[in-house]
Amino acid sequence: MIYLDNNATTALDPLVRDEMLPWLGDENYGNPSAGYRFGKRAREAVETARAKVAELIGAEPEEITFTSGGTESNNTALEAARRIRPDRNEFMISAVEHSAIFEPCQFYESTGLVCRMNPVDSYGHLDLDFWEAALSDKTALASLIFANNETGVISPVTEAAEAAANAGAMFHTDAVQAVGKIPVSVNDAPIQMLSMSAHKLHGPKGVGALFVSRNSRFHPLLIGGGQEDGRRSGTENVAAIVGFGKAAELARADFHADSIGKLRDRFENGVLEKIEGVEVNGDRENRLPNTSNLYFTGVDGEGLLILLDEAGICCSPGSACSTGSVEPSRIIKAMGFSTERARSSVRFSLSKFTTESEIDEAVAQLEKAVSKLRVVMPKSGSRVVVNS
Ligand SMILES: Cc1ncc(COP(=O)(O)O)c(C=O)c1O
Repeated sequence: MIYLDNNATTALDPLVRDEMLPWLGDENYGNPSAGYRFGKRAREAVETARAKVAELIGAEPEEITFTSGGTESNNTALEAARRIRPDRNEFMISAVEHSAIFEPCQFYESTGLVCRMNPVDSYGHLDLDFWEAALSDKTALASLIFANNETGVISPVTEAAEAAANAGAMFHTDAVQAVGKIPVSVNDAPIQMLSMSAHKLHGPKGVGALFVSRNSRFHPLLIGGGQEDGRRSGTENVAAIVGFGKAAELARADFHADSIGKLRDRFENGVLEKIEGVEVNGDRENRLPNTSNLYFTGVDGEGLLILLDEAGICCSPGSACSTGSVEPSRIIKAMGFSTERARSSVRFSLSKFTTESEIDEAVAQLEKAVSKLRVVMPKSGSRVVVNS
């Protein structure tokens, strides 16, 4: 198998797994909230992990709240802003947010809140003038994705956060795809909240964190036993949190950005050279080093995914959440492209475990699959079902 879907999820790093194992056996199962030493051991492990996650983004440990992942962190940020700023009834987001921001905003709209969506251009760049003009004394929260999960395009977070601060609005960034891949620091901009997820940086699934600035007010989404300093009730998933801590420590030591970027460029240049009619979706410069989103003209994206799967190659039509649905990518369409382009685009995403020979094999298989599909694809561009 050649795994090129690392924006969907990553392999657990064996060093992360080793760190987690003692917390999954029968020796360390204490509740971190318990007062006896057996529980305190677990508490110490959680706090060590908190410090490591904080360090990765230049935060203080008390600014980190562990959650069940990026979706919960995003939902918590929106709900916190709604509760803290009842005097303001608008949210501001971009047109290229992940569904864990986009869908809750749709829900909030149905409750009477206004959600302003900011356009992006054909490179996936946010229109900063529009962003600034749309902010007002009605804006409770402005939320902007740090790096897009489908195209890898990096947002102007500093400028957007400063504009939000000038309007007196809170600012949140969904940094789930950026953290662990590129430097992210909460000190570079007036960021009140930032979402992270461990499984995007070779940590376990089902654990993430929400940074909440110590200067910011907060309101929890989950209310109960008051764990996580009252910010997220529910007994902590100790093994997963320990794994997240180790993954953060490893990422901080080395993002592998240069080597991954070189391999991504080898892949992309190989495809552009060998296959006609291919275009890159999104700004090629200002994007994550591991992501390549390609438009194959006249090729049905779903058919291509099927052929690549048969060749042992895992990649994605966009976000993992939309796999299996026939919906064309909302992100590619938000960049002003046609439904046809959105349906003919495929995302490839690499990791530190991707090798040169895998890349070369993937390019060769892609070449075969695309020419096969172009033979069976009717000129009209209508979609075909590929059974071979
Ligand atoms: C940008 C972005 N935000 C949020 C999420 C959701 O994270 P999780 O899978 O941890 O809930 C994802 C996952 O694909 C993502 O890419």
